[in-house]
Amino acid sequence: MVGENQYTIRLAEDRDIHQVAEIDQEAFSEEQLFRSYASYHREIHNPLARYIVACAEEEHGLNTNKQIMPELPWYKRLLSHNYHNVKYTTNEQYVLGFAGFWIMPDEGHITALGVRSNHRCSGIGERLLISLIDLATQLSIKTITLEVRASNEAAQSLYRKYGFQAVGRRPRYYSNNREDAVLMSTNTITSASFQAHFQELKEAHRQRWKESFIAA
Ligand SMILES: CC(C)(COP(=O)(O)OP(=O)(O)OC[C@H]1O[C@@H](n2cnc3c(N)ncnc32)[C@H](O)[C@@H]1OP(=O)(O)O)[C@@H](O)C(=O)NCCC(=O)NCCS
Repeated sequence: MVGENQYTIRLAEDRDIHQVAEIDQEAFSEEQLFRSYASYHREIHNPLARYIVACAEEEHGLNTNKQIMPELPWYKRLLSHNYHNVKYTTNEQYVLGFAGFWIMPDEGHITALGVRSNHRCSGIGERLLISLIDLATQLSIKTITLEVRASNEAAQSLYRKYGFQAVGRRPRYYSNNREDAVLMSTNTITSASFQAHFQELKEAHRQRWKESFIAA
């Protein structure tokens, strides 16, 4: 059990899908992504992927079931009927952020990392990244890669902090504004040098945010 202003990190489950979709919409609104319940379900259960959530006890008075639908255009609401079949309990955990990667041969490719806008700059995004790197290390993955918008300085700064370097560019990768994607990659994450730096950063994060992050 985690207390007020505290969160923990665990693997994503079916009960999180609605909130993960909500965060996805909020974090990547410019991409106008709309994924069906089935596609999130598929991702969470994909044996070649791992998705995690940062979650706290339910935020006071928040009814997450009602939040996403009014923000969607009518045609997306029509397509989203399958979300209505999902059951919520009153003691549902409140998902603050989520992240995931695909497991490719020798490579983990980060597909998502997002934190609710009103909970950003509190160490949650960094903690999600730490957990992804831990998971990838356990899976003996060699390197971690990702694409990020060229203009997304906040995310690039986080990735740089953890040793990701820009290794390429995908011109006009994002369809909404034809913005370039920067391709970033780590060195070998199981190497002694990467792990030494990573453990230092992990410990610094633990010290800085010990009041809020509770290890499961
Ligand atoms: C990127 C994102 C996940 C960061 O999450 P967060 O919880 O706010 O970040 P944290 O508080 O853990 O910050 C960790 C590091 O990220 C970087 N960072 C976070 N916010 C930043 C900002 N506004 N400007 C510059 N750097 C920032 C810093 O390096 C920071 O380390 P520091 O505190 O030592 O300076 C969050 O901004 C988000 O959800 N953005 C929208 C979705 C997105 O862009 N995802 C990435 C797609 S590739």
